[in-house]
Amino acid sequence: MVAPIAVAIDAPDIETAARWASSVAPHVSTVKVGLELYLRYGPDVIASMRGANKVALFLDLKLHDIPATVAGAARSVARLRPSILTVHAAGGRDMIRAAVEAAPETRIAAVTVLTSLEDAALEEIGLRGPAHDAVRRLAVLSVEAGARALVCSPHEVSSLRAEVGPDITLITPGVRPAGADKGDQARVATPEEAIAAGADLLVIGRPITRAADPGAAAATIAAALRRASTASA
Ligand code: C5P
Repeated sequence: MVAPIAVAIDAPDIETAARWASSVAPHVSTVKVGLELYLRYGPDVIASMRGANKVALFLDLKLHDIPATVAGAARSVARLRPSILTVHAAGGRDMIRAAVEAAPETRIAAVTVLTSLEDAALEEIGLRGPAHDAVRRLAVLSVEAGARALVCSPHEVSSLRAEVGPDITLITPGVRPAGADKGDQARVATPEEAIAAGADLLVIGRPITRAADPGAAAATIAAALRRASTASA
């Protein structure tokens, strides 16, 4: 069984992206493509990552515009059949709903508050803090508008789960296996902790893609998650 992991394929070019995707695909449910690769290569990068791999696609484009424009963008990428597409919750209720309606086969995931923004930065852009209140407010709004998934930090998972119920997919970046380099991620949790807190899908990038053997790194994390779930069953 593959692990509930979306590997962030933040690769410098399309060949590397395809190679990483093939190495991790046997072990994980999902691969995630972000703005850097998608803006450079468009749908070609999706095709080359899918290749012969049976893996779901998470398109992390964080759309944020007026509802009609977001609907058009969501419709355009819906043809690529991503399982998940991100939008910024701050675009508001009508924008989120427009994305949901334009891509009915795709799970629209709302990004609440970027984890790069601290309370002072939130204040500066006029978003009432503290951050965790803003996250909760935007999460509820997103779900009311039809989003079926939320992107949040592992530290917000349990409180958001209580807020939005069991049917919403909670997706968490900021995941680091014990002992791994934290890089620029400040508040991290291990994969086992994030799942225990109630996360449904873990976004993991560099601990896998920058390993000497990305396939082996993905397999090791997947095995640790399997052991943890057997132990808690
Ligand atoms: O390499 P690493 O595991 O830090 O990769 C995390 C991925 O998740 C990156 O693609 C990053 O853009 C994304 N992300 C994040 N924090 C968020 C939202 C997305 O790190 N709050």
